[in-house]
Amino acid sequence: MSSWIRTHDCGKISLNDVGATVSLNGWINRYRNLGGLLFIDLRDRTGLVQVVFSPEQQPELFKIAETLRNEYVVTVKGQVQNRPETMLNPEMATGGVEVAATELVIVNTAKTPPLYVNKTAEEEETLRLRYRYLDLRRPEMQKKLALRHRIVKLIRDFLDTKGFWEIETPMLTRSTPEGARDFLVPSRVNPGQFYALPQSPQIFKQLLMVSGMEKYFQIARCFRDEDLRADRQPEFTQVDLEMSFVERETILSLMEEMMALLLKELKGIDLPRPFPRLKYAEAMDRYGSDKPDTRFGLELVEISELVAESEFTVFRNVLAQGGKVVAFNAPGCGQYTRRELDALSPLAAKYGAKGVAYFALAEGNVKSPIAKFFTQNQLEKVITKLDAKDGDLIIIIADQKPQQALTALGALRLEFGRRLNLIPENQYNLLWVVDFPLFEEDPTANRLVSVHHPFTAPLAADNELLTADPLKVRSNSYDLVLNGVELGGGSIRIHERALQEKIFTTLGLTPTLVQEKFGFLLEAFEYGTPPHGGIALGLDRLVMLLTEASSLREVIAFPKTTSATCLMTMAPSTVSPEQLEEVHLTTNYRQEES
Ligand code: AMO
Ligand code: AMP
Repeated sequence: MSSWIRTHDCGKISLNDVGATVSLNGWINRYRNLGGLLFIDLRDRTGLVQVVFSPEQQPELFKIAETLRNEYVVTVKGQVQNRPETMLNPEMATGGVEVAATELVIVNTAKTPPLYVNKTAEEEETLRLRYRYLDLRRPEMQKKLALRHRIVKLIRDFLDTKGFWEIETPMLTRSTPEGARDFLVPSRVNPGQFYALPQSPQIFKQLLMVSGMEKYFQIARCFRDEDLRADRQPEFTQVDLEMSFVERETILSLMEEMMALLLKELKGIDLPRPFPRLKYAEAMDRYGSDKPDTRFGLELVEISELVAESEFTVFRNVLAQGGKVVAFNAPGCGQYTRRELDALSPLAAKYGAKGVAYFALAEGNVKSPIAKFFTQNQLEKVITKLDAKDGDLIIIIADQKPQQALTALGALRLEFGRRLNLIPENQYNLLWVVDFPLFEEDPTANRLVSVHHPFTAPLAADNELLTADPLKVRSNSYDLVLNGVELGGGSIRIHERALQEKIFTTLGLTPTLVQEKFGFLLEAFEYGTPPHGGIALGLDRLVMLLTEASSLREVIAFPKTTSATCLMTMAPSTVSPEQLEEVHLTTNYRQEES
């Protein structure tokens, strides 16, 4: 063969190329030997094209072609021709043409692959991850990674036009307090000492503001050793940015412009702007979540006052202890069978509820084991407040901790949204949740922790409360929520040493510990620090949502399993005693003998 380098992409050959001689490179997607003719679908990353071998015209070539099997790598030369009328395939982008082969080189053979590259993934995910390089040959996987590339490119270009500089920050650093556990890296040259992989570039990007960079961004890798879920990976990517001399609104509107651009370019959708802004307290009250999915209703309603006078002791006790009784109406579920109604209890328990009650409105009656504790008037008030009709089901949760009642009911709301098919597809509901509390109680340690991170500024109006009632202080932070997923979070930062020290003290850090961990940052604040703020968006989550993927693993080339392993490389792994010795470590962990 003259030159084996491709002249055309498989998926782009069209009727315009009929008559042309083309050279193609790719993989055998499928072969069909009909005796009289042999067809292959040749695949490269642009798509498929049919290649035909004829035993009469090219007997030698046909013999070689007969040995082709799936996933062989080949170079084919031939003429593009119209397909016969009966062979047209409107399903295929190149379905009007085929290439009549004149030359063929088998560049490399392939064993029978353990998964069907030419079919949509249906195998166990473990098999796909074990042979990820084959899984990634699938067009649907390539499409996701192509979209990921495009998103990053759009973001880079957008931020560039806005005057941002992309600046890298260290991977080997010291622990940053984002709330998760650190991945540690032992130092060989500094015996007994460890680097931490960054949970985010938080402190560095703030220091870049002290340096006068004014507008920084980075497509940043972050590492967090936390329990994994479908939307959490131990290493993930943030679109991380920080700006000086800004107010909260500057950052929110910049992000809105960026999201609008992405949705326009990628989905052709015009996002209405500004996005809704929901105060944290309101998000909790209405949706039982700080990342509400607003694509459907079923909003929560507090009914504490309406049931306070009832004879039902559970509610009375909860209210006497400062709790809340909250409810929502599940339309059309009033006809649930006894079994379906009984199933609510374990479901609510799964979300941390101590119990769940219901009023099923069927045939003009209120069906409920607790109805007897309520007067007709009390029942009617609840029904009216929830705007419920005959055939509906009112679901109620009471808890002495208002937050607990709301979050459990919020989870049930989501469950019923799915169950009742109320969640529309192809809708992108973006909103901001603002005014989070600055602190929350760490139930395990009886102390305060930051809701966002300790560098977040309190709302100026709440400064007075910092000493008097820290749990009441709201923060100047914001989360970007897309269809019920926390897409990003950020805040206006503290830029004064005294306030930053005050926050550390409130968090229970001793001056010695503060000096040891954050001395360099506090010192930096004394050399002329501009007011600044920023945000980080989870890139993996963004790609997941825009590709309608079911997990982050679908949009990361080489992801980890939920037990934080890589099934292909088998990382993590043990290392040799010599390697351990070099970094001055011994391990007392012994694999359990089986
Ligand atoms: P935060 O911790 O909220 O903020 O993280 C920002 C965003 O990163 C994504 N994210 C994750 N994605 C996948 N796997 C994970 N384990 C994971 N953890 C977080 C989420 C989240 O909204 N430094 C601050 C930002 C700032 O204040 O500017 C930070 O990291 O989409
Ligand atoms: P119990 O007294 O636990 O048998 O509960 C009596 C009824 O009250 C049952 O229908 C429970 O499901 C309901 N119930 C109990 N605790 C709660 C709660 N915290 N919120 C709502 N309903 C509850």
